Order: sequence, then C-alpha cells, then structure tokens
Amino acid sequence: MGSQGMLARRALLTNTPVMVQIQELIRGVKDCISLAQGVVYWQPPKQALEKVQQLVWDPSVSRYGADEGLPELREALTRKIREENKLYKSSVMVTAGANQAFVNVVLALCDAGDSVIMFAPYYFNAYMSFQMTGVTDILVGPGDPKTLHPDADWLEKTLQETKPPPKLVTIVNPGNPSGTYIPESLLKRISDICKNAGCWLVMDNTYEYFMYDGLKHVCLEDNHIINIFSFSKAYGMMGWRVGYIAYPSEVKGLSEQLLKIQDNIPICASIISQRLALFSLEVGPEWVTDQVKDLVKNRGIVLEALTPLGEDAVRGGEGAIYLWAKLPDKHSDDFEVVRWLARRHGIVVIPGCSSGCEGYLRISYGGLREEDCRVASARLRKGLEELVKDGMVQ
Ligand SMILES: Cc1ncc(COP(=O)(O)O)c(C=O)c1O
Repeated sequence: MGSQGMLARRALLTNTPVMVQIQELIRGVKDCISLAQGVVYWQPPKQALEKVQQLVWDPSVSRYGADEGLPELREALTRKIREENKLYKSSVMVTAGANQAFVNVVLALCDAGDSVIMFAPYYFNAYMSFQMTGVTDILVGPGDPKTLHPDADWLEKTLQETKPPPKLVTIVNPGNPSGTYIPESLLKRISDICKNAGCWLVMDNTYEYFMYDGLKHVCLEDNHIINIFSFSKAYGMMGWRVGYIAYPSEVKGLSEQLLKIQDNIPICASIISQRLALFSLEVGPEWVTDQVKDLVKNRGIVLEALTPLGEDAVRGGEGAIYLWAKLPDKHSDDFEVVRWLARRHGIVVIPGCSSGCEGYLRISYGGLREEDCRVASARLRKGLEELVKDGMVQ
C-alpha cells in the first residue's frame, strides 16, 4: 500500500487550506505586505488583558472547565445575545473559536452523505468542514451578480427538487470573502424557505459588529436556526480561540449531541481565554464599535487601489473586513495573479478560487493600521495597473 493509501479519504479529499498556501508564499517573498488573512490589527481591551494577567497563578485556569463553557461567561453571553441579538430562546455553548463551533454544528446535524447548501463566494473553512466530515454533496448556489445576495429563488427550487432534501443551509452575514451584507428581509425569506423544507439554517455572525454606512446587523431565531459568533475579530482575540454557538433550547437532544462532540474535541475552550472573553465583554460592545469605525478609512484606501480593475469590478464591502474584486477576463487564473502580485509587487491577497469563484480576489483590510494600509494599497494599485496594462510581466 502506498503512503496515500494509509490516509483517510475524508482528509485527502478536503481542500488544502488557502491560508497555509498563502503563508508559504509570504515566507518565500522578502518584505511582503499582507492584505490576505482575515485579521484585525488591534489587541484585546487593555483593561481585560491586565485583569487576565493576574489569573495565571489561579489553579482553576490550569484545570478543565465545564464542556459548555464557564458558567459566568455563558450567563454574560446569554444576556448579550438577548440584548444585542434579540435571541431569547437560545442556549450558549462556548467553543475554541467560530471554526470549531461550525465543526461541532456540522457533526451534530449532518451525516456523511447528506447534502448541504452554501452560496458563492463561500467561506472556505466552512466548505472544508463539510468535506472532512463526509458531507461531500455540497450544492453551491449563486449570488446576485451585482449585490452577491444569496439567490432565494434558486434556494427554494433546489430545496423542493433535491431528494432527499439538503439537510442544512449556511450563510455568513456580513460575508467572508465578500463583505456582503444580507438585508433582514432576505434573511427572513431564506429562513422561511429553510423552515418549510425542514432544513437547518446555520448563520455565521463572526462580523456582527463590522457594519458600515449606518447598516445594522440582525440575527434571526427559530427552532431550525443556529447562530455562530466569534471573539476573534471583534475583541482582537484571534490567538485566544474563543467563539460560541447560540442554538435553539427547545430542540430536544441538540444540546446533548453538541456536548458529545465538544467533549471529544477541545473538552472545553481554554479557561484563561474564556476569562479574557468575559473581561472583554465587560468592557462592552462600544469598545468594539470604536475600533471598527476607523476601518472605514482602510476600506476607502483599498477601494481606491482597486480602481485599475475598472468601475464595475468591486463587489460587497458593506460589512466585515473584505472587498471582492473581479480580475480582467483574460486573468481568470487568480492564484497565478496572487503569486505574481506577491513576487513582483510584494503584496499578498487571497485568490477567489478558494471560495469557489475563479477570476476574483479577496482583499482584507482589517489587519493593518491606516499608514501601513496606505503602503500596502499603493503596492496593490501599482501591481493592478501593470496587470491591466502589460499583463504579468516578469
Ligand atoms: C466567517 C468566519 N467564520 C469563522 C471564522 C473563524 O473564526 P474563529 O477565529 O473564531 O475560529 C472566520 C475567520 O476568518 C470567519 O471569517
């Protein structure tokens, strides 16, 4: 048996993580600037970090905690989802980030062989979570060409016509990779379609606070809806790994199944990280919106850098930390363009093929302060000007 024969097909047939490929690319280029990874430049609130610093000697942070999360944190989150997200009938499970939350949910709701639905351009890690859990029948629905809003008519038709009907629909709002904001009326329509078809709707609200131009994020609640949240971007806690699931309390057996999965993956999210999450929550959402409001400048700077691609090339960007841009038709090999931009112009972005759309780029503008974002954007602009005018000259 060759060495590949010793490995699980579920892993072999899962896409290679784009961020790992991008990190490798960055390592190979001297003085490269990244507009690639979905990160923010800030650290957690200072007051929260100071408090958590004193906790390292407390024996409780070195022990296991309750699988579903520290009771104090769950209480605070239950209040938060009531007050901010209007979720009144949901229970909370704390996880090691939103990605782990998503895997828990897929394992609890889907069997290998089930079909599921996402919309293009999709969040690559969610796609991989399906692949590696044996949920390989992933139907990718279209977005509106202008707004990138999920096509609800397609969803309705597909749920009616696919037998057996897909088990789960997932959306990210506002979106990764596009930053697209899905209006409440469309969310409600998608939710009703899922409910009528007896299908789960999993909504990823990682960027709930990352809304611009007066738009307001909303969540929906029902017995077929699961909401996922993250501390990573909002509170600058990417490396601390804390997220949570808000799931319908009334659905019999759901919390027990989620607990089985949780007990076998992290057992519990890191205790000191949960403490930091609690201290951060106490600082409050105003702290987060205060950080986020300055990102509008970065968005404007990057938007300007994308102008060589033409007036109509950019989509999304109403929320989150991303812009989504179409490359000229003759450059549909987006990964080739990404490599060229890195090597020739010292700037890295994400290829659209990782989200199911060749010929596009995802540009992330949350990871750099304004001054650095200007430097990165100048490189991007120069690269795109050259691409459009002369092609990928070496
Ligand atoms: C939509 C979405 N969900 C989940 C995650 C992962 O978040 P976490 O760090 O909480 O696992 C990200 C991170 O980029 C994301 O963009």
